[in-house]
Amino acid sequence: MSSKKWLITGGCGFIGTSLIQQLLKNDAHTDIRILDNLSVGSEEDLAEVAEFNKISHPDAPPEGVELLVGDITNAQDCLDASKGIDIIVHLAANTGVGPSVEDPEGDMRANVIGIFNMLEAARTNAVNKFIFASSGAPIGELKNPPIHEELAAHPVSPYGASKLAGEGYCSAYYHSFGINTIALRFGNVYGPRSKHKASVVAKFIKQAINGETCEIYGTGLQTRDFIYILDLVDAIIKSAQVDIGGEVFQIASSKERTVNEIAKIVEQELKHHGTNLKLKYGEARPGDVMRNFSDTTKAKKILGWHAITNINYGINKTIENLIKNLYPK
Ligand SMILES: NC(=O)c1ccc[n+]([C@@H]2O[C@H](COP(=O)([O-])OP(=O)(O)OC[C@H]3O[C@@H](n4cnc5c(N)ncnc54)[C@H](O)[C@@H]3O)[C@@H](O)[C@H]2O)c1
Repeated sequence: MSSKKWLITGGCGFIGTSLIQQLLKNDAHTDIRILDNLSVGSEEDLAEVAEFNKISHPDAPPEGVELLVGDITNAQDCLDASKGIDIIVHLAANTGVGPSVEDPEGDMRANVIGIFNMLEAARTNAVNKFIFASSGAPIGELKNPPIHEELAAHPVSPYGASKLAGEGYCSAYYHSFGINTIALRFGNVYGPRSKHKASVVAKFIKQAINGETCEIYGTGLQTRDFIYILDLVDAIIKSAQVDIGGEVFQIASSKERTVNEIAKIVEQELKHHGTNLKLKYGEARPGDVMRNFSDTTKAKKILGWHAITNINYGINKTIENLIKNLYPK
């Protein structure tokens, strides 16, 4: 794998910086280009994990780590970024249900036009491997989870619909053009480097550290499948190593946990750091599903991957990292 050239869109964000850190840990000489518009992640975030050069119009494969500031909704930026690349990991996106309900058009532009531009760029530049960050959201509300790859999709949020469109284009670009696309449906990812995330683990920890009361939307009985960032990064790297395309995989812990349970674990772990968690209950949010967890049998069989991190350990690591980031000594 060491000679492969990577393009990571959204590489300055939570998952992107964690992936870059791991790739460089595996091989300090990995060549990685990042395409990010810096709307969420920043150059400082990237600098925490890698020394990098800023570039503008690449005409050769990346050497070392390179940042191209650009937008996936701009076809030329995508074409420029994918020159000389072997593997694209497409992470850049509008990243949540809430923002997609507030601005469905913005979500569509980033998540539908964005992936279309990236797949076209892959086709033009003969990039053979394309890994797409999808989510459980395409499946929508399910009375009897777990979610698995054979279920019909019925998204209930614009985010679910735009991720489903991405999965559709990945399938089409495999069957029509032979690009080895893999869509990974991530569970609810938590871990170090998530300081800007509004997902439940990061939000509760930040609010508790700031002495604020944490709000659970609805009863807290809604369930999610929480996956630790290093398990997720391992799944991305394993996907890059298999010679298959046109596939979708559930990438999660396979454990169904209520938001109340997660709040309890966060509370226990925060106590070790001398912090209390105060909770209140508010309105349920439109577009949020009641139950969500994944069957990851297919990933185990084909990618040789499964999640291994204990949730208390993972949450404790997240707390340590957020305290360090929010209150540097
Ligand atoms: N974090 C999770 O729990 C989770 C769960 C399921 C799926 N995903 C998916 O994983 C991917 C990465 O998520 P994340 O948590 O790292 O998000 P993030 O917001 O931390 O990172 C996304 C990065 O993409 C960049 N970006 C956004 N719009 C862009 C655009 N138009 N052009 C170029 N760059 C752009 C941002 O600046 C940011 O650095 C997303 O596609 C997200 O939908 C994440």
